[in-house]
Amino acid sequence: MKSSETAWVNPLRAPEDKRLPRIAGPSGMVIFGVTGDLARRKLLPAVYDLANRGLLPAGFTLVGFGRREWSKQDFEDYVRQAVESGARTKIREHVWERLAEGMHFVSGAFNDDEAFDNLAATLGHMDATRGTAGNWAFYLSVPPAFFSDVVHQLDRTGMAQGADNQWRRVIIEKPFGDDLESAQDLNAVVNHVFPEKSVFRIDHYLGKETVQNILALRFANQLFEPLWNSHYIDHVQITMAEDIGLGGRAGYYDGIGAARDVIQNHLIQLLALVAMEEPTSFSPRALRAEKLKILRATTPVEPFSETTARGQYTAGWQGSEKVVGLREEEGFDPNSTTETYAACTLQINSRRWAGVPFYLRTGKRLGRRVTEIALVFKEAPHQPFSDSQAAFLGANAVVIRVQPDEGVLMRFGSKVPGSTMEVRDVNMDFSYSEAFTEESPEAYERLILDALLENSSLFPTNEEVERSWEILDPIIEYWADSGRPDEYEAGTWGPQSADDMMSAHGRTWRRP
Ligand code: BG6
Repeated sequence: MKSSETAWVNPLRAPEDKRLPRIAGPSGMVIFGVTGDLARRKLLPAVYDLANRGLLPAGFTLVGFGRREWSKQDFEDYVRQAVESGARTKIREHVWERLAEGMHFVSGAFNDDEAFDNLAATLGHMDATRGTAGNWAFYLSVPPAFFSDVVHQLDRTGMAQGADNQWRRVIIEKPFGDDLESAQDLNAVVNHVFPEKSVFRIDHYLGKETVQNILALRFANQLFEPLWNSHYIDHVQITMAEDIGLGGRAGYYDGIGAARDVIQNHLIQLLALVAMEEPTSFSPRALRAEKLKILRATTPVEPFSETTARGQYTAGWQGSEKVVGLREEEGFDPNSTTETYAACTLQINSRRWAGVPFYLRTGKRLGRRVTEIALVFKEAPHQPFSDSQAAFLGANAVVIRVQPDEGVLMRFGSKVPGSTMEVRDVNMDFSYSEAFTEESPEAYERLILDALLENSSLFPTNEEVERSWEILDPIIEYWADSGRPDEYEAGTWGPQSADDMMSAHGRTWRRP
């Protein structure tokens, strides 16, 4: 038994890390696409938060690469703005100054040999003056169309390979392809230059504390695991709902859509963590082997006309705000068939999960922002209560709330106070913020630090990525031939076809 004084430690940390987060060794990071939205909103604030928490080495060096003709000072100002608006922790001037000292900007395009030669020279100079020791992470926060150019340049200039005792790693943002074939092509390009152990593919959901808690909940307890199978579970619902619309992202999103943007990566990864068998350890190899095994057993359920749904939002109300429909969004082709809502049914062909459908759904402009996994239980085999006594009794459920209000909820029946024997649903609710005083780090803090530490547990492998496309591709192909998606009003919970898909099997979506 653990003593009550023992701090909760992340089960994914290697044994020697149990007490304190490890500090990254001498290193630097180059961000390609540093002027993009992701870098500004997430990556740069995360780098500062890591520095502020004392988890980056003293000489940590951040190099931005982009087309703008920026001086070092311009880059510093840009990062400062990003940090001020996005960092989780307070700005402390001495931390900022130390980080800013190590910032540099190299100007150029991804096919510009001279710019990459400059970059190589800059890294060499940094190694000599800042103690980065030849250890560099290259963060590709760029559209996949540019992966090949950047990786080729890293290879050509020798930056992809360090000398003995130096490391070079590549961190790659999604989307990692838009179907199996393109993912295989990208993997081939990347793996031609970087060995798989040096490739860190980001799925930022895996960096979220609550997602890691799925493993703690399942494997640290005796309470849940005996029930975690087809004997007791009727079905599983995995929901990622967003209240935002496309905003300025129409250019990226058109042609991609909700299934490729979210189901292929975040939701299928959640499914793998919820459904996989216990790994022999939390080492990257053991964890990823179990995830891959479950993904290999996962297939979409047909016929897709009944087991999937997709939609596009129309104008409506988001709370008290009137919002435009997809076709009126700036930069979006009004004739596009790209979906902003997607739902599908998957099954896992294993002894544990035979006959248990996994319903996955995601959408923009839905009722509210929430990500959760609900395991909905079968009815008790016998019900000693009359229909009227149990009129308000639903199915038992365990709900893992990934965000917001991170926690775990259990729904079960309880007697209503009074002289009659009436039962109805109640919730038992565990909330992270009430149970723990410390605030969770942002997903990108965790993932950037892990990449610098070469801890690859939370990064999907090339095989996982390719298998996820293999699962999704048949559904996307079916949709490609099915005309326009259905419509749903902004602020609602998706198209009617999504409800029909559930009611055909006597089930309903949870209203989270
Ligand atoms: C990204 C998707 O991966 O996740 C976006 O590309 C989505 O479309 C975002 O908005 C949501 O992330 P989070 O962490 O806010 O749930």
